[in-house]
Amino acid sequence: MLRIFLTVSVLFWNQLAAQKAVDEVLDLCEDDNCFSPAVVIEDKNYDEMEFKFDQLVETEVHTVNFKSAMEIGLEKLFNYSHCGNAAGTVVPISAPWGVYGYLENGKIQQKFKVFLEIVPEVINPPEPTDPTVKTVFIPPVWYFARGFDKKLDEQQIEERVTQLLKDLEQDNQPFNETFFLIAFYNTHGLMGIAFEKAGE
Ligand SMILES: *[C@@H]1O[C@H](CO)[C@@H](O)[C@H](O)[C@H]1NC(C)=O
Ligand SMILES: *[C@@H]1O[C@H](CO)[C@@H](O)[C@H](O)[C@H]1NC(C)=O
Repeated sequence: MLRIFLTVSVLFWNQLAAQKAVDEVLDLCEDDNCFSPAVVIEDKNYDEMEFKFDQLVETEVHTVNFKSAMEIGLEKLFNYSHCGNAAGTVVPISAPWGVYGYLENGKIQQKFKVFLEIVPEVINPPEPTDPTVKTVFIPPVWYFARGFDKKLDEQQIEERVTQLLKDLEQDNQPFNETFFLIAFYNTHGLMGIAFEKAGE
């Protein structure tokens, strides 16, 4: 009985914490003009979210883990926004930034796509001068996502990716298991982990 009670209250607490992180993202983006979900539907202990049209600059990095991918990738992406582009101009960027990671048989691969948002006011972003960097336009997409607002290390974040994967599988949710998304909204650990909803 006690065990069941504890499990329920832990789930409830996780849900509250996740919801708080999502609310923080929405508040932050209202003030700071970052890219936030257009629709948030609370599901069990994660959310379904729709993101509307979105433009990114991204680069693929092959390395041991996503932290190292971000160090390598973000430098290139910041260079793009600071004149490393065909127009030789500053391209305004915003939160979130992060990585797409890939899974094979539930195992995180050593291949990542690092991304950074380009603000929507930029129409036709200039071409990158670095051939390994590209700008992409993402049509509206739904995700299953969970928010966090505490600084976590590499391993803790990987555990949370795996946990979300397991929870979605257990709930028989339609989602694409081949890749996940980690998106950071500030440097104090406000972030989201997501899998793309399939069949939308
Ligand atoms: C970024 O730009 C600086 C200055 O132009 C250059 O020295 C550096 O190598 C560039 N870094 C990457 C990763 O392209
Ligand atoms: C999952 O995503 C990958 C990579 O974008 C894509 O190639 C694949 O077709 C997707 N699978 C499903 C079931 O949507």
